[in-house]
Amino acid sequence: MPDTRKFNSVPNIAAPNIAANVAGIQSPNPFWLASAPPTNCGEQIMRAFDAGWGGAVWKTIGEPIVNVSSRYSSIDWNGQRMMGLNNIELISDRPIEVNLREIAQVKKLYPKNAVIASLMVESTREAWHAIVKQSEDAGADGLELNFGCPHGMSERGMGSAVGQVPEYAEMITSWVKEVASTPVLVKLTPNITDIRAVARAAKRGGADGLSAINTINSITGIDLDTFVPRPNVDGASSHGGYCGPAVKPIALNLVQQVMSDPASMLPLSGIGGIGTWRDAAEFLLLGCSSVQVCTAAMHFGYRIVEDMIDGLQNWMSEKGFATIEDFRGLSLPRVNEWKHLNLNYKIVAHIHEDKCIGCDLCYTACWDGAHQCIHLDRVSGPVDGHVEVHSKPPDVVARSRAEITVTPIPKLDHLDRSQRLPNATPLARIPRVDETECVGCNLCSLVCPVEECITMERIDLGLPPQSWEQRTASQATAAVTNVGAD
Ligand SMILES: Cc1cc2nc3c(=O)[nH]c(=O)nc-3n(C[C@H](O)[C@H](O)[C@H](O)COP(=O)(O)O)c2cc1C
Ligand code: SF4
Ligand code: SF4
Repeated sequence: MPDTRKFNSVPNIAAPNIAANVAGIQSPNPFWLASAPPTNCGEQIMRAFDAGWGGAVWKTIGEPIVNVSSRYSSIDWNGQRMMGLNNIELISDRPIEVNLREIAQVKKLYPKNAVIASLMVESTREAWHAIVKQSEDAGADGLELNFGCPHGMSERGMGSAVGQVPEYAEMITSWVKEVASTPVLVKLTPNITDIRAVARAAKRGGADGLSAINTINSITGIDLDTFVPRPNVDGASSHGGYCGPAVKPIALNLVQQVMSDPASMLPLSGIGGIGTWRDAAEFLLLGCSSVQVCTAAMHFGYRIVEDMIDGLQNWMSEKGFATIEDFRGLSLPRVNEWKHLNLNYKIVAHIHEDKCIGCDLCYTACWDGAHQCIHLDRVSGPVDGHVEVHSKPPDVVARSRAEITVTPIPKLDHLDRSQRLPNATPLARIPRVDETECVGCNLCSLVCPVEECITMERIDLGLPPQSWEQRTASQATAAVTNVGAD
């Protein structure tokens, strides 16, 4: 049985130590900038370190690259700009020597911050040996192998073309390990059926750690006037890499898969949609040793790290965690296979009438998207000795019409009948839940626009926990017993 205790406030830690260690790469905090435009050059990374970032993965260094213009497009959602960002940018378009010279400068001035060189070169042993040596000579604290870039480079046999073939990933990792003296992280692509296949290959190749995820293949949208997908490069486009808040659930899932697989598990730097300390805490709870941020820094600037540090430290103090290791991975055992979940756990929706605004979104969602157990013919007890539990929409509409002038205003239910207003108001539309039919799917609580207006309450069925496996096993035993009885 998983431990269902909550970690409650233990106000005993003054300033938790948030220093991070990823496979031997040390940084004063777990917040690293991911390899991307925010880590394009030394001047930027030094400003980022001044703002508080613990580490930076340099924008991928490789052979001279030419980029297109334009490069980015995005998805806006409900007033929020850039919920998801898409790019068709390639690796650094600055000469390798310039990047190396600047790595050396940054390391000299910021010895305590982690500087990781992200690398991608053609798939030959010589090319990899050369770039590893150059990066380490420049002073990089570690290396991140970019086996994830999904566009442009993959067409030339690099990036995700390597990360999608476990044999290539293993081979190149082992080439790097032949000469590397600093920790080697392999950055994984999500554009693969089973991310564990490449994580295992990287581990076999000798990787010291992993980073996940790189961007997800996407087409963000199409201009309905020109018919050209975005971003438009002179009348055409290409598939690009998706990132930002929209990808966080996918990233968390892939991180969990890797971290719960003994054959893949290595120290891991989590990436994908991280923009707040809460996001970061979630990745750390799934076993990450540091987190990397790209889109949020591109959107809001380096200073977001101040809130991330404060927030994480405050949360750790509240929970009584002195270091990241105190809570790292605590959520991993809570992710289970479906067949192990308790079938006798039952929750039902409860509508808090004092908060309800009568919008009826829950009613519509439950009727069309769930199990038809939210009703508008609100009754707070037996009516004529009978509680209606199986109304269908036409019945409800008919009854509501008949009752509209007499239905009490729920917020004034406590008043006696003589004090009630003569006519019903929209508040009379406050719905009720038929708990006997509610399956506890959560949908109504998810669509309700008012916080804490619909809560999911546990019903005690008086039954011991029972998983699918246990239930089918007991049914099989019963069947055998019955056959025996015949
Ligand atoms: C414009 C842009 C350029 C990127 N360039 C690189 C790169 O050169 N190397 C790399 O490993 N990842 C690159 N990435 C991927 C990021 O490092 C990161 O894995 C991804 O954006 C997910 O993190 P996020 O959701 O915080 O943005 C790039 C991302 C963007 C948006
Ligand atoms: S969605 Fe929430 S606010 Fe709207 S009617 Fe249902 S309970 Fe009330
Ligand atoms: S939890 Fe699901 S089934 Fe229950 S009332 Fe809400 S929407 Fe309907």
